[in-house]
Amino acid sequence: MCGIVGYIGKQKATPILINGLLSLEYRGYDSSGLAVIENNSIAILKDKGRVSNLEELTKNCELTSHIGIAHTRWATHGKPSKENAHPHLDNSEQFVVVHNGIIENYHELREFLTQKGYHFLSQTDTEVIPNLIHYYYSNGIADEDPFLRAVKSAVDDLKGSYAIEVISKLYPDKMIVVRKDSPLVIGKGNGENFVASDIPAILSYTKDFYLLDDNEYAVLSADTIHFYDNTLSEHSKAIKNIEWDATAAEKNGYEDYMLKEIYEQPNAIRETIGSHFTLGEKCSFDDLSIEKDYLSTINKIFIVACGTAMHAGLVGKNAMEKLCHIPTEVDIASEFRYRDPIIDEKTLCIYISQSGETADTIAALKLAKSKGAKTLAVSNVIGSSITREADYTIYTHAGPEIAVASTKAYTSQVVLMVILAIYFAETLNSCDTSELESLKSDILDLPSKLEAVLDETRTIERFAKKIYTEHDMYFLGRGSDYYVAMEGSLKLKEISYIHSEAYAAGELKHGPIALIENGVTVISILTNPNLVEKCISNIQEVITRGAKTLVITNQKLHNVHFDFVVNIPETNSFISPILSVVPLQLLSYYIAKNKGLDVDKPRNLAKSVTVE
Ligand code: G6P
Repeated sequence: MCGIVGYIGKQKATPILINGLLSLEYRGYDSSGLAVIENNSIAILKDKGRVSNLEELTKNCELTSHIGIAHTRWATHGKPSKENAHPHLDNSEQFVVVHNGIIENYHELREFLTQKGYHFLSQTDTEVIPNLIHYYYSNGIADEDPFLRAVKSAVDDLKGSYAIEVISKLYPDKMIVVRKDSPLVIGKGNGENFVASDIPAILSYTKDFYLLDDNEYAVLSADTIHFYDNTLSEHSKAIKNIEWDATAAEKNGYEDYMLKEIYEQPNAIRETIGSHFTLGEKCSFDDLSIEKDYLSTINKIFIVACGTAMHAGLVGKNAMEKLCHIPTEVDIASEFRYRDPIIDEKTLCIYISQSGETADTIAALKLAKSKGAKTLAVSNVIGSSITREADYTIYTHAGPEIAVASTKAYTSQVVLMVILAIYFAETLNSCDTSELESLKSDILDLPSKLEAVLDETRTIERFAKKIYTEHDMYFLGRGSDYYVAMEGSLKLKEISYIHSEAYAAGELKHGPIALIENGVTVISILTNPNLVEKCISNIQEVITRGAKTLVITNQKLHNVHFDFVVNIPETNSFISPILSVVPLQLLSYYIAKNKGLDVDKPRNLAKSVTVE
């Protein structure tokens, strides 16, 4: 969690740092701060709350420095407050640090430093870092680069995850960064260099990036970047050119990123389908060559992820099992990593992560690798941590997703999982070709059908107006519709703060129906022709008890009265979630807007959860 930015060059650092923080705010927004080297001393500005508060502070002081580091925080150790906000100084005010991640042994380190006479001003785990650097700097052996040596000695003491930026008033032309299990990218400019937790934060300044590896150090000046491994031996590193358009990471006239991203779904799907197939030809993945010999040995697939990505995995499971006949289980990454799952070299583990940085998902991947399974990452971020750990990677091409609540990444993940299942089925000859061809044809029609669903926005807006003051809602579905119900319910909680539950419609009678009383809202998804009748019976049961009903369907429903119906186009049931989830995304969005909430940055949440 938390976002960091750094700048060293010829321009004024402060506006660049603020711009970067504003685009990283989705990573955390309970406080923010920056440090620059001004007239041979370190100047720090920080405040509680949004980056805009910090921006206001910068307007009241004339900062001209050309080097600086900055941070937007999502509290883990210590409450959100000004004193806990980063950057943090050492006691001698020579070194200043911003940090993303968690230092697990900070109690121990704090005690060690306290015994050495250091004191602490915050409750954070981070404050040990600048003090350790100072300790090693003052007690260090002679070295040609004592600053780097001291940072490395301090980092050697840390247990946990971190992306760290350090500057020092003793070295006003130098910035040191290092990472482990927490993202950090370096943008190379002309006579200037940038650092950030995520590419979009600095994409408007450069398209040339270095993706720092775990335990790798970079020492930056305005004109140079040197890389070192964890023994401080220097090495060269390949630069990556990132094609994303900077304006793609801006709002483009939409009121919020979330609405923009909902409307970008037809294109995100189009891009994700890309050139994986044309009708009449087999599916292919450029960077993925999974041979039939290997695939035929697989007797179990795990799909592992968190949050919305896990819901995409549930939809993917259906396609994997039905098209490839391989038993497939979906797991929540934070459970999977600690439940000692039965895994061996005949297991394929697929990890879905939009950001590619989710700590639990990465840990779950490392676990499967250690047990001999092959791992495949599905990510939206090129070069993200998960893609560097996995044996194989495939990418969604949703473009940068900024809103905390995931929308276009989810639908892109679903389509990619189904294409992957087709690819496996074609490799294994496990499914009738005509069935696969018809599914492919439906996939190719998805973008235009999504556009038709987006045309129904007004109906959803009206329904949202009717129900936005409610406190509890229920989502029902069967099969894949149930998985969509789960995603709809999650979206509602995330951005509207309304309590909601998703139930498999058949489970209604086993408890939840006790909660249904006059006026309660029940939202149902009905897209599977084989299950429609059964689901309608379940909805009748709640109507009888006075529930208000919204139904999202691609079927012709007769003889039942629902309060609101959203009709969506028919498609293959493997991919119907891509269409049926959109009205639910819009519903949460409009409910949140009616309540006057900040949809892009919901309270307590962060886009990228890089801590356990
Ligand atoms: C956070 C985000 C969710 C996201 C989940 C997994 O909880 O708020 O929107 O689904 O993390 O993120 P990932 O980047 O691994 O897909």
